[in-house]
Amino acid sequence: MAPQLEEIHIKNCKVVTDRWKMVDELPKGGVCAELGIWKCDFSEFIFQTLQPEKLHLIDIDSKSIQIALDKFSGEIDRGEVQVHHSDSSAALLSMPDQYFDWIYIDGDHQYHGVKKDLMAAHEKLSPSGLISLNDYIFFGSSDLTKYGVVEAVNEFCVNFDYEIVFMALHGRMYNDVTLRRIDD
Ligand SMILES: C[S@@+](CC[C@H](N)C(=O)[O-])C[C@H]1O[C@@H](n2cnc3c(N)ncnc32)[C@H](O)[C@@H]1O
Repeated sequence: MAPQLEEIHIKNCKVVTDRWKMVDELPKGGVCAELGIWKCDFSEFIFQTLQPEKLHLIDIDSKSIQIALDKFSGEIDRGEVQVHHSDSSAALLSMPDQYFDWIYIDGDHQYHGVKKDLMAAHEKLSPSGLISLNDYIFFGSSDLTKYGVVEAVNEFCVNFDYEIVFMALHGRMYNDVTLRRIDD
């Protein structure tokens, strides 16, 4: 069982239809990162929708990195996108503290991987920043795989005082969530 969330962790949560709608409702601009980019389809949507001052694209797989270099060559030349061939938490930890306005976590979905990404994100997030995670699901019905995102997210919210502000639905319940620090 994932740690139980309390009312304080969900009372401001808005449920939206899907993750595209969720991203559309996030603040525009700022410094953003996508951890785990695969074919960069969502990266393109993020870039077009949020129009970030800078978007960091991070993946451990060289094929994904090549896709990013090809798709974003103009943006890379203009300094709007930076591509990192790296473990996601290591890449985040190499950045300045409180640097990011939004971090999208979609890399290693096992509990320890998500926990490492969340801890790095916590350190590098601006005070008003947001963290979103894909696949807030306990067990995947499509791939018959255990995911550790629910346990890592709930534990993080309870231990570090974050609340869920968006839950974005998915047709097979591979939902997204967005977290922010609870105001004192
Ligand atoms: C589910 S895909 C990402 C999908 C993408 N965000 C999207 O919405 O289309 C997961 C990606 O995470 C990458 N990945 C897995 N573990 C990682 C790690 N520890 N650090 C960085 N990337 C990782 C994989 O190579 C893969 O490209």
